[in-house]
Amino acid sequence: MNVNERVRQLDVDPRTSLLDALREHLRLSGTKKGCDHGQCGACTVLVNGRRVNSCLTLAVMHEDDDIVTIEGLGDPDHLHPLQRAFVENDAFQCGYCTPGQICSAVGMLAEVAAGWPSHATADVASPRIAPTDAEIRERMSGNICRCAAYPNIVAAIRDTAR
Ligand code: FES
Repeated sequence: MNVNERVRQLDVDPRTSLLDALREHLRLSGTKKGCDHGQCGACTVLVNGRRVNSCLTLAVMHEDDDIVTIEGLGDPDHLHPLQRAFVENDAFQCGYCTPGQICSAVGMLAEVAAGWPSHATADVASPRIAPTDAEIRERMSGNICRCAAYPNIVAAIRDTAR
């Protein structure tokens, strides 16, 4: 698989989740394990540009895929616009969910730009660039923040989408 623009050969048990392959075999610990059951979104990464719960998919299914983790979005000297917006909007407290929130937001904004519908926008013309706050909340509802930093997370995504 191609992870953060680098080809990686993995020799893993076929039962290994993509999450465990990233964290334990490739040492990319930015992707977090919360529930390990597809409930919290902490493990969200981008697979061929689409957000995926990496705990719910097997590494062997992604041999030919492009994977982007939080480490691939930016670095301390060149933050991704969403990373910068999360800092500027204080959009975290403990920070555990933040990598998944940011990867999910990257995928979500691409979905909005591509005109993917949501329940909150069934009657809104698409494609668009800037989602409404209600749409952001709905589209990000798969990413849980137990510190409840949701207002600031929405603000960070809104600022990025402008
Ligand atoms: Fe994958 Fe919670 S760890 S959704």
